[in-house]
Amino acid sequence: MADLQTILSDGKVAVVTGAASGIGLAAAIRFVKRGMTVVLADNDRSKLENAREIVAAQSKNADARIAAIATDVSDREAVADLERSVSGRFGDVHVLMNNAGIQPGSSLFGPEADWDSVLKVNLMGIIHGTRLFGPKMIAHGEPALIINTGSKQGITTPPGDPAYNVAKAGVKAFTEALQHELRTTAGCRVNAHLLIPGFVFTPLAARGRTEKPDGAWTPDQTVEFMMESLERGDFYILCPDNDVDRATDEKRIAWAAGDIIENRPPLSRWHPDCADAFAAYLKT
Ligand SMILES: NC(=O)c1ccc[n+]([C@@H]2O[C@H](COP(=O)([O-])OP(=O)(O)OC[C@H]3O[C@@H](n4cnc5c(N)ncnc54)[C@H](O)[C@@H]3O)[C@@H](O)[C@H]2O)c1
Repeated sequence: MADLQTILSDGKVAVVTGAASGIGLAAAIRFVKRGMTVVLADNDRSKLENAREIVAAQSKNADARIAAIATDVSDREAVADLERSVSGRFGDVHVLMNNAGIQPGSSLFGPEADWDSVLKVNLMGIIHGTRLFGPKMIAHGEPALIINTGSKQGITTPPGDPAYNVAKAGVKAFTEALQHELRTTAGCRVNAHLLIPGFVFTPLAARGRTEKPDGAWTPDQTVEFMMESLERGDFYILCPDNDVDRATDEKRIAWAAGDIIENRPPLSRWHPDCADAFAAYLKT
C-alpha cells in the first residue's frame, strides 16, 4: 500500500483518542516511531501526562512534535476544540484513531447512567471524532486514515453487557457507512478501518487482574497486528488473541448471522436448545 507508507511517515500528523493507556498508547508509540507528529487525547489528565512523556521519549523533536490534549470525547464541543487546536498547531491530520472507550458494565434494566456514559463515550465519541475531523481530512487531499475501535462484542453481541454491545454494534455500522461514503466521494483519499481487538490486557479489560492472563494479547501485539492489517488494506481488522484464533472468530460470526437466516432465537449460541448444535458447528 503505497499510500500507507506516505501516511505513516515523517512529519505526518496522527491524532489518537484514549491515548493515555492500553491500545491507544501503544498506537501512539508506533506512530511516533514512524516519525509522525502525534497528538494524544484522553480525559484522564494524570495518565495523559505520563503517556506524553513515554511517547515524547521516542521522538527526536518532542516539543514540536508531541502534544497531549485533555479531551472528553463524549462532549462534542470538546472534540471540536481538539480539532481546532490540532489544525491550528499542526495543520492537516493524516491519521485519526477514534479509540477511547470504557466498559463499566451494564444490564438491560440497570442504571440509566451506565447506558448514558457507554453510548456517549463508545459510540458518540467515535461519531464526534469522525464528523469533526473527517471533512478537513477529505478536503486537504492527501492520503489519510480513520481507524475506529470496535469490538467483537459489537458483532456477536454476547449476553452480559448490553450497553457496550449496542455501542460497539453502532461503531461497526457507522464505520461501514463511513468507508462506503469515503470510497464513493470523488477525489477522496481518506480510507476507514474498523479495529476489532481480541482480548487485550489493559485497564479496561483487567477486572482486578494485575498480571496478563495467558489468553490475552498485549496492546503492542494488537497494534502490530493492526499495522500488518493496514498493510494488507483490510477494512475489518479482526484481531485474534492467545485463546481465540481467526477460524473460531469466523465461526462465531457466521453463527450469529445464521440466527436470522436459520430463524433461530437471538443469541442462540447461549440458548440451551442450541448449545449442542453450536458446539458441533465449531468442530466442523
Ligand atoms: N482491552 C480489550 O480486551 C478490548 C477488546 C475489544 C475492544 N476494546 C476497545 O479498545 C479501546 C481501547 O481500550 P483499551 O483496552 O486500550 O482500554 P484502556 O482503559 O487501557 O484505554 C482506554 C482509554 O480511553 C480513555 N477514555 C475513557 N473515556 C474517555 C473519554 N470520555 N474521553 C477521552 N478518553 C477517554 C481512558 O482514560 C483510557 O486512557 C476501547 O474502545 C475498547 O472498547 C478493548
